[in-house]
Amino acid sequence: PLVSMNEFLPQAKAKKFAVGQFNMNNLEFAQAIVEAAMEEKSPFIFGVSEGALKYMGIEFTVAIARAAAEKSGLPIALHLDHGSSFEVAMKCIRAGFSSVMFDGSHYPFEENIRLTKEVVKAAHAMGVSVEGELGTIGGVEDDISVDAAEAALAKPEEAIRFYEETGVDCLAIAVGTAHGMYAGEPNIRFDIIEKVSQAIPVPIVLHGGSGVPDEMIKKSIEAGVGKINVNTENQVACTDTIREVLAKDAKVYDPRKYLAPARNAMKEVVRSKIRLFGSSGQA
Ligand code: G3H
Ligand code: ZN
Repeated sequence: PLVSMNEFLPQAKAKKFAVGQFNMNNLEFAQAIVEAAMEEKSPFIFGVSEGALKYMGIEFTVAIARAAAEKSGLPIALHLDHGSSFEVAMKCIRAGFSSVMFDGSHYPFEENIRLTKEVVKAAHAMGVSVEGELGTIGGVEDDISVDAAEAALAKPEEAIRFYEETGVDCLAIAVGTAHGMYAGEPNIRFDIIEKVSQAIPVPIVLHGGSGVPDEMIKKSIEAGVGKINVNTENQVACTDTIREVLAKDAKVYDPRKYLAPARNAMKEVVRSKIRLFGSSGQA
């Protein structure tokens, strides 16, 4: 069955590795992710954004994730990514999600605490884990777009108070990463990660994991990151591969002819992230 993130996040924090949240956008993404994780014997999180939910349908999303958990025997969490309301979170939990993120980062601080608390109370009563977010992460993901000027780093004192008042199971804080690929290199504030991580018992979540140099990923895990989200790199691998196949042969009409190599390309992305995050063999 699908599990709460608490099945693996405490170990991740204690042993200094990170569990990957790989976003599921369709069946091929799900297959690529679970196949790589099976070969690496790694726990992982299927992230599903509200946009992806709309695209796949909630029933198919849950059915695919359950099939992956059953087939693999791995600890897999099915997690709502950037949930925008209490209602969406509850809808996902009722449908079978084992974890939810409530992203109240666009609300004033006190309102974010109040709303996150409500989600935590309801979710924990059902054994479902919760991720909260503080500070605003730049970049574009689905319908959520935050420009660089608006992106605001999390303040450590606020992040610590946010944790203490809400009791979230992991905490996403804006530390300089952005959704989507980077023009140059991100400027990650390892000092903020470290300060918050030392003061709270749960791991920090790094959003915008695509395109972050390997050395920065390792340093962020060392500083207290225990969950890393990756979506865009898989999307790019998928689409680049499909473009290549179609460019080579204009007569292709069977989708399997381009989807199978696209799936393989994503599997290699996921495998390399799992190894980089240090979660191989942790299932
Ligand atoms: O919530 C999802 C992630 O933060 C994905 O970010 O597309 O830059 O990898 P990314
Ligand atoms: Zn994100």
